[in-house]
Amino acid sequence: MSPSRMAEYLETDRLLLRHFTENDAELLVELDSDSEVMRYLSGGVPTPPERIHREVLPRLLGQYEKWDGRFGLVAAHERAGGEFIGWFILRPKADGPTDEVELGYRLRKAAWGKGYATEGSAALLHKAFTELGVRMVWAETMFVNRGSRNVMEKLGMTHVQTYWPDLPPIEGSEHGEVRYEIVAPTTDLGV
Ligand SMILES: CC(C)(COP(=O)(O)OP(=O)(O)OC[C@H]1O[C@@H](n2cnc3c(N)ncnc32)[C@H](O)[C@@H]1OP(=O)(O)O)[C@@H](O)C(=O)NCCC(=O)NCCS
Repeated sequence: MSPSRMAEYLETDRLLLRHFTENDAELLVELDSDSEVMRYLSGGVPTPPERIHREVLPRLLGQYEKWDGRFGLVAAHERAGGEFIGWFILRPKADGPTDEVELGYRLRKAAWGKGYATEGSAALLHKAFTELGVRMVWAETMFVNRGSRNVMEKLGMTHVQTYWPDLPPIEGSEHGEVRYEIVAPTTDLGV
């Protein structure tokens, strides 16, 4: 299917963000099979394809239902040429309020270093604050994931916490996990 025919979520200068469909398992399998992409997520271990087919994709499709397509994981494509470059996420906690949402991103290595994570995320923040009634956006990553932290900092997010989750250790996890937040800009009514 060409990206122009897919359900569109958001467009930026260079990117098209759209909902995933049940036909997209292989895109997720390929993305999660790159040990460099997975370095700060699993220590480089690919996500088993079976898990993507049976758990990951059905769950993310279910989340579109839950939030009427307003929140969830969205596929990102280059507008020029339509290449799949990875995904972004804008999602409340499972049982949390919908005005507090998590921002995340996972891009194919070929797409790194072009400003795509910052461009897609900035557009998502704008959508969250202007259309989706979001008050606060948070993002978390490993302290040592400099690239991800740089994106958060370029977005104007503030480092609010470093913590040590109870997870199996991977390289760098001794430095902990960082949480960044940003709140919706307040409107100056000039009164
Ligand atoms: C982290 C990631 C999303 C960055 O994507 P990207 O599109 O390359 O990021 P951008 O091009 O928007 O870069 C934003 C800034 O961070 C810098 N940066 C990006 N990757 C970097 C890295 N590995 N080390 C240091 N700086 C980095 C960029 O130079 C840029 O700063 P600049 O404009 O001052 O040059 C991408 O590397 C990725 O998907 N990694 C694998 C998955 C992952 O770790 N996701 C986050 C887990 S929470």
